[in-house]
Amino acid sequence: MLSTEKYQEEFVAYLKKYSTLKEPKNLYEPIQYILGLGGKRLRPVLTLMTAEIFNGDYKNALDAALSIEVFHNFSLVHDDIMDDAPLRRGQETVHEKWDINTGILSGDAMLIMAYQLFENYEAKTFQSLAKLFSKTAIEVCEGQQYDVDFETRNDVTVTEYLKMIEYKTAVLVGAAMKMGAIVANASNNDQNSIYEFGRNLGVAFQLQDDYLDAFGDPKTFGKQVGGDIIENKKTYLYLKALKFSNEENQLKLKGLFNSVLEDNDAKISTVKQIFNSSGASDATQEEIKNYTNKAFLVLESLDISDEKKTLLHDFGNALMNRNV
Ligand code: IPE
Ligand code: IPE
Ligand code: MG
Ligand code: MG
Ligand code: MG
Repeated sequence: MLSTEKYQEEFVAYLKKYSTLKEPKNLYEPIQYILGLGGKRLRPVLTLMTAEIFNGDYKNALDAALSIEVFHNFSLVHDDIMDDAPLRRGQETVHEKWDINTGILSGDAMLIMAYQLFENYEAKTFQSLAKLFSKTAIEVCEGQQYDVDFETRNDVTVTEYLKMIEYKTAVLVGAAMKMGAIVANASNNDQNSIYEFGRNLGVAFQLQDDYLDAFGDPKTFGKQVGGDIIENKKTYLYLKALKFSNEENQLKLKGLFNSVLEDNDAKISTVKQIFNSSGASDATQEEIKNYTNKAFLVLESLDISDEKKTLLHDFGNALMNRNV
């Protein structure tokens, strides 16, 4: 096994070779732009790492890892249009730098490119990867639709929210790991366990993403802080704040989340204050720990060395303590 940093380095080197500029420029430039903006490369690293955890060679998993990262970046380009987001990884979003139509079409091409990468595998592996990919990609669309539907709903439950983030985010983390297991020819049991590990970690990851969207440091976060509040996203923070608040603050929150305002700064600061004073911020941190621990519990059932378990454990803990 290599270190996380080394897997990331190997992945980025592979990505650089893949990403070449073709004609028409207005289709491919935005693709090169978004893929080159960096990011944590969390999912492809998990694919490579998982391949080696099940005694495969990470080099055979590079195309699957690339597919996952291209799909992830496709989903970000379209997500930023849907969320009206100006910033991604500290730079302009694709639809801001170009325009919405460019974002749509370059995103579409990326989705196809992600599928195309499976062609580098022999038939049996190709089929398993493509099947998992299709199921996951449809679920991501379902999760994204729930996310948007919830913006204009006032009766979203925590259960609905958890299902939404499972679909829009967690299943892709699970799939990234399962693909590594598939390439390594791991048993079905191991494939399913590592998927469960990734899925639980993915739920924790999105809870943390929602937390950072409100409380991240604008200097380092790379996205517009408060973007979810501006867009009336029904996050765990919001749902818990509603539940824990007195009537006055409940009315205030509901009012703010049913409006499109001129002055978003005031809205953001009032909402963040209520998130903190109500105990919603603490409850979110607790839930992040809960889901990370659920992932660790799945790890216990895996028949892999303690050294490999420690690696996955450290990865989960690092995710929980991230600020980007
Ligand atoms: C952002 O994912 C979208 C979510 C599912 C929260 P990341 O936080 O992994 O984004 P990058 O790739 O590191 O920029
Ligand atoms: C993103 O959720 C999920 C997908 C891109 C599928 P968010 O909308 O919270 O992601 P960020 O915060 O913009 O990265
Ligand atoms: Mg977004
Ligand atoms: Mg979104
Ligand atoms: Mg977010």
